[in-house]
Amino acid sequence: MATNLSTFNTATSQEVFAKAKHLMPGGVSSPVRAFKSVGGEPIVFDRVNGAYAWDIDGNKYIDYIGSWGPAIVGHSHPEVIEALHKALEKGTSFGAPCVLENQLAEMVIEAVPSVEMVRFVNSGTEACMSVLRLMRAFTGRDKIIKFEGCYHGHADMFLVKAGSGVATLGLPDSPGVPKSTTANTLTAPYNDLEAVKKLFAENPDQISGVIIEPVVGNAGCIVPKDGFLQGLKDLCKANGALLVFDEVMTGFRLSYGGAQARFGVTPDLTTMGKVIGGGLPVGAYGGRKDIMSMVAPAGPMYQAGTLSGNPLAMTAGIKTMEILKREGSYEYLEQITKKLAEGMLAIAHETGHAATGNIVGAMFGIFFTSQQVYDYEDAKTSDTAKFAKFHRGMLEHGVYLAPSQFEAGFTSLAHTDADVEATLAATRTVLSQIPA
Ligand SMILES: Cc1ncc(COP(=O)(O)O)c(C=O)c1O
Repeated sequence: MATNLSTFNTATSQEVFAKAKHLMPGGVSSPVRAFKSVGGEPIVFDRVNGAYAWDIDGNKYIDYIGSWGPAIVGHSHPEVIEALHKALEKGTSFGAPCVLENQLAEMVIEAVPSVEMVRFVNSGTEACMSVLRLMRAFTGRDKIIKFEGCYHGHADMFLVKAGSGVATLGLPDSPGVPKSTTANTLTAPYNDLEAVKKLFAENPDQISGVIIEPVVGNAGCIVPKDGFLQGLKDLCKANGALLVFDEVMTGFRLSYGGAQARFGVTPDLTTMGKVIGGGLPVGAYGGRKDIMSMVAPAGPMYQAGTLSGNPLAMTAGIKTMEILKREGSYEYLEQITKKLAEGMLAIAHETGHAATGNIVGAMFGIFFTSQQVYDYEDAKTSDTAKFAKFHRGMLEHGVYLAPSQFEAGFTSLAHTDADVEATLAATRTVLSQIPA
């Protein structure tokens, strides 16, 4: 077990967080971290290494968040740290072209089927807002289709039926987003091709494209039904619209080529983030050369960034991807994730709890519901009060899970069989103590 329950004490975390609440809205730099949907005070981190995180009270956790996805080779991988040390000696930011950008761009282009050309930015949000402008610039149309429960960052146009923190906090939308901005955002239930077909029929020649998380990670983990992604591609093609896979979460996590390589469906454009920055702030968007050639300065669509292509971020991304590319990485991730998530589900059932789950690549989601989850409405049938108890119990037993029923879990190359076994033992103890 990672933490001895009798020594579990979060007094310093609580003290620091109490102060943080006076300094930053909600005490955090990003909403879900505040633990609002599971109650209780968040844990304040001190350091991370491999599969583990330590808080400032000295508690150790097996970490299944991995900084929300980037830590797929394990936190602070020695090779990444070494490469960063070397890069650091050359400076922290150039604001000018560097060879490292070419290197990471070549790796991304080689790996991701849809990407013939790529632009680096600093976050997934930035990647998605930029790709949106590109979709519209290329097609000359304003409307987009997104899916309920899918999160594409916090730009205005996407804050309609969004997942992640928006789902967690139960905000249907956000104040400050003008109606005129979201008027062009059409939504459909995930896995519902007929709904998409209807939207295209109702808005002829007006829809620039469809953006989707090919596997949803922001409403729990939800996988596409057979033929759904290909069906979207066909519908986009028939209607002169672009298909965009938001692979900020799934990129290099479901396979080296992301969800598109795994499912064999190539979109027109792709957004990326998280893993390609190896724990430093990076996002990217890329796709067909004819579309990407519209981006400034090659073309007229403006988009820029002071720190974009930052040498430290490029270095961490390159090294992370080099490690991932080694033989057996994805087989290991697949196997360890299955062992973990199938084990948790089996224990939930043995201890009398209704639970279903989705597992794909190095991503998983367990829902406290009897219903198989195919879309956001299904996900919302989950018993979130039970999840909150489960989350707190696991934390007390040294397992750090995403603090929301509506977030996916992530594994890494650093998670061992022993970590999984300790996690399953904790699951059994905690679920046995929660009324079914
Ligand atoms: C699918 C997806 N798109 C976009 C984003 C936004 O990325 P960032 O938080 O780096 O802005 C996220 C973040 O979790 C995401 O999961």
